[in-house]
Order: sequence, then C-alpha cells, then structure tokens
Amino acid sequence: MNVPTMQGLNVQAPTYVKNARLVAWVADMAALCKPARIHWCDGSQEEYDRLCQQLVDAGTFKRLNPARRPNSYLACSNPSDVARVEGRTFICSEKKEDAGPTNNWMAPAEMRATLRPLFDGCMAGRTMYVIPFSMGPLGSPIAQIGVELSDSAYVAVNMKLMTRMGRAVHDVMGTDGAFVPCMHTVGVPLAAGAKDSAWPCNETKYIVHYPETREIWSYGSGYGGNALLGKKCLALRIASTMGRDEGWLAEHMLILGVQNPAGKKYHVAAAFPSACGKTNFSMLVPPAGFDGWKVTTIGDDIAWIKPQPDGTLRAINPEAGYFGVAPGTNMKTNPNCMLSLARDVIFTNVALTDDGDVWWEGMEADHGGKLPEHLVDWKGQDWTPAIARETGAKAAHPNARFTAAATNNPALDAAWDDPAGVKIDAMIFGGRRSTTVPLVTEARDWQEGVYMAATMGSETTAAAVGQQGVVRRDPFAMLPFTGYNMSDYFQHWLNLGEKLQAHGATLPRIYCVNWFRKGADGKFVWPGYGENMRVLKWMLDRIEGTAQGTQTAFGIAPAYGEINWQGLNFSTEQFATVTRIDATAWGEELKLHDAHFDKLAYHLPRQLLATRAALQQRLGL
Ligand code: OXD
Ligand code: MN
Repeated sequence: MNVPTMQGLNVQAPTYVKNARLVAWVADMAALCKPARIHWCDGSQEEYDRLCQQLVDAGTFKRLNPARRPNSYLACSNPSDVARVEGRTFICSEKKEDAGPTNNWMAPAEMRATLRPLFDGCMAGRTMYVIPFSMGPLGSPIAQIGVELSDSAYVAVNMKLMTRMGRAVHDVMGTDGAFVPCMHTVGVPLAAGAKDSAWPCNETKYIVHYPETREIWSYGSGYGGNALLGKKCLALRIASTMGRDEGWLAEHMLILGVQNPAGKKYHVAAAFPSACGKTNFSMLVPPAGFDGWKVTTIGDDIAWIKPQPDGTLRAINPEAGYFGVAPGTNMKTNPNCMLSLARDVIFTNVALTDDGDVWWEGMEADHGGKLPEHLVDWKGQDWTPAIARETGAKAAHPNARFTAAATNNPALDAAWDDPAGVKIDAMIFGGRRSTTVPLVTEARDWQEGVYMAATMGSETTAAAVGQQGVVRRDPFAMLPFTGYNMSDYFQHWLNLGEKLQAHGATLPRIYCVNWFRKGADGKFVWPGYGENMRVLKWMLDRIEGTAQGTQTAFGIAPAYGEINWQGLNFSTEQFATVTRIDATAWGEELKLHDAHFDKLAYHLPRQLLATRAALQQRLGL
C-alpha cells in the first residue's frame, strides 16, 4: 500500500501490509511528526542485527565481548532518563472521576492540544519505525495487537525481544483487524547535519493514555515502560480498561507453574510492586528438601486473566521477554535468570568490565564476594572499590535493566506460548513491609482477598521515583498501572468473583505474603528467594486440604509444623517473628487503611468497609 503524506514522504508499506486503517494512520502520523524516513519493522533476525549495529555506530550501544556475552549489548541512558515517570503519566478519560484520585488526569481535548505542537516535527531528521506487535500468543483469543510508531531504534530492538513483533502480526491484523495505536518519540528533532546524542531524550515528558479511544502517546523518554509501550501502557493501563469493559483482568502479576513429585501441576499468579523480586519468584528453583518439585515460568510481570465458560480463570503472559532489574541478581538469588542472560541480551545502565562484559551490584556473590578492580560505571566514569567506598557511587544504576527473550529461560513453561493460557489455582499479593504484615495468610473468601490486595502497602524502591523506604499503598501492585478509577477497579474484582461464584465456580485461593519482615537487628528474618518454595507448598497443601492452618485476624496462617523445613534451619522463634500479628501495630495499620479508603471514597465498594470492620473486631480493637 502506498500513501503519500502532505510533505511528499512516501509511506510505502510493504505488500504484506493489508490494513488500510493502519496505513492511513501511519501516513497521518508521519505528516505530523515529519520523519526523514519510515521503516516498517519485519521482526527478522537480520533486521535486529542491522539495527543493533546501527545503534553501535551511533554510540548508543556497546557490543559486549562475544566470547563472554555473545550477541549482547550495553546501552547507557542519559542520567535524567532512568525510570518510569509516574508524575508525568496521565490517564485522559473524558471524566476526571473515571481516572480517579490515584492517576494524573487531563481532559482529552486539552491533552491533545498540548501534545500536538510537541509532536509536530518531533521526528525531523530521524527514522519513524513502524513496530507491529502482539501482546500474547499470535492469534490467541486473549491477545491484543498494538502498533508503535517510534523514532528510537533502541525501542524497536527491545520490542523485538519483549513482544511477538513483526510481519506475522500483519497476518493476524488482516485487512481490518483492530490495533492499539501507540505513538512514541524521544522528543529531539534533528536539524540537517546536526550530531545526535547517544541517548536523545527531552526534559519534558508525557506518558499519556486515552482509555476510551484506546490510544497511547508518549513523549520525551527513551527508557523502559515510558517507551516500550506494549508493557505498562498497553498491557496494564489500556488493557485494565478493556478488562473492566469486557469482564476480564489485566494484572501486574507473574505466572508460574509448580509441579509436585507426583506430577500434579498447579498455576499461580502473583502480584508484587516493582522491584520486589517478581522475576526471582517466577523463576524460583526449589531448595533442598524439595526433591522432585519443579517450578516453571509463564511470565514475570503481567498476566491477562479471562473467565472461561466452565467458570475457571485462564491466564496468558502478554509479553515475550523480560525487562528485569539487574542489580541484586546472581546465581544464588536467581540462577535461571542469570542463565537467561548468558547471550542475546540488551543491558541498560549496568557497568562495563575491562574485558567487555557487564557487572552490577550483587554479582560479587558469584565471585566469592570479590569486587572487580576496575569498571566503567553506567555514567561512563571510572569505578573502583575504593571510589565506591569513598563516594558511595554505584557501578550500575539501581534501576538498571536487562532485556532478554523468554526463550532464553531454561525454566520456561511448556505452555508459556499456549493461546489458551493456563488455569489459575491461586493468586498471591505481596508487598515489601519490614513490620506488621505476616509471612503468609490465606483469605477466607474472595472478598477478604480483595481487601488484602486493595490495602496492600510497600516500602518504595528505585523503580518508583521518590523517597526510599516509605510505605506507600499499592493496591494490587497496580497503583501506577490501573487505567481507571481505583475504587471501580476494586468493584470490578468483587463483581467478577460474585458472578463466577453465582455460576458455581470454585475461585482461585487468594494469599497475602510478605518476604521482607525484619527482626530487632534490622535484618530480614525470612531467607526468601528459593526458600519461598516452602510457603508456596503450604498454599498447595491448603488447596489439597492437607494443611489445616490456623484462623487469625488477617486470614488463615500456617502452623509451624505445616511448613516443610527439611534443608533449612528456621526456629520457632524466627517463625514467630515473621508471622506474629501484633494488635498495636495493626491498630496503626488500620488507621492507614482508613486514610487510604478516605482518598478512594468515591465509588469505594461497601464490601471493603464491611471487611475492615470485621478485621477490627477480630483484632479486639
Ligand atoms: C517493571 C516495573 O519494570 O514494574 O516491571 O516497574
Ligand atoms: Mn512490573
């Protein structure tokens, strides 16, 4: 298809592109953004290699030593562009109440009037990449198609690893299939002959969603969730509104498979805020004492969950790769992840070793605690252990990332690409809390589970800009990702549960976990990582009816003797430290729930207030 823009730039879509609406949109956007050229991505390996070489030539990528890290690259961003920018992320629904108090809002017309001049000519001197992608297995009834127009080759190659990207998507779209239009620019037009920077980005940033018309417009950042628009923007913010309208769930959840020695398999979806170890949990290696158990990964970050006619909930991972936090990852914390990073990886903002490999804080654990003598840090500065001691400089940015295809993962589940998804048996919600919240409890019913998830809090980390270590309420780990009013989102969860139960369905059990409780010495008490298998097994025992549990104010908890302790020394005192429900601390916690609910008062489901009242009563407060 061939459509000229007003500037005479020919859109010249490849012959396999048959969707007239797509071609017309590309022509319109090219007329607005005025790129020097248009490249229709076909998703081939040859294209990926060519674009990576182009990024090497532009100074954006460094090719890593092929003997140590074959076919892998390091990109270091502008230090002002290192994380998602929640303060610049907008949900532009027609009505402010539909975005709710947890989202930034601007009226769509006003936002369009703001963005149009910014996008006018924004791609001058650059290539506009047309990036077709499927979120979910190609052709799956649960999947959605998006097309991102971006002036960043870094985005195009990351999208190849993170999504099913390329020519096959056009076959799924056909002549009139729907797609979510995703506009992205780094916001730095290039004058003729001007030299580009290695990481162009603009101080002004907008990450904008129009939920009613299902559009995404992102301006000014080249980093992660701000720029790879399939991930947080489409698969969570836009998809959550699709889910509300169509009766399904788009969640910030990993999905794992867990098989017992008898060969029985379960599937678990788990929500944790950013940088709380979701990737680690999704790739968990069962510890000593768990011979014959197997954990496999379906997804590490996002789950789309749809009710089926038989009352089950089936889930797919809409992504096809991992964009995970590198610091802290090593062979002890996540061996499957380290093995996934052996080759064909894009690293962003980690440090470079003198022999052309990568390094980040935490990797010393794989070298007997020994730090490298010299590195080039993520800002391009010399780094030595002495400099780090004197200045506290980190070699890798705390939010440094790796991008790797799911197929790199040795623990990838055989059904990860199954268009039908997997049946979910349990859902887990967990935050990072050094006090108050116990290691694990099971909700007595769906409503109590929704309450646990709705009131979840977490101490903040590097992925969320702001003060570190402060508890922020992060309902369902979806605070920055729900594309509509949070209270309506709670209601949607309650409605879905009620509807399924009314049809006789057995809903997945809901669990609340906290791996991060600290002792009087300020240290974590629970060993975490692979040892979380012990908690996971207790959940499965509950589902099988072989663990009785004990009733607490906040759900059903394991008795010490119900956990398999084989291979781990963990005393009853330590267990008490991580499981104790302290009524005074919970009194304070309830005040925080109240403040949270006050903020969400508009449309707050009454059922949550009833659950809160029952909790207070059980606490004897
Ligand atoms: C992520 C995040 O990148 O949650 O997954 O921030
Ligand atoms: Mn995430």
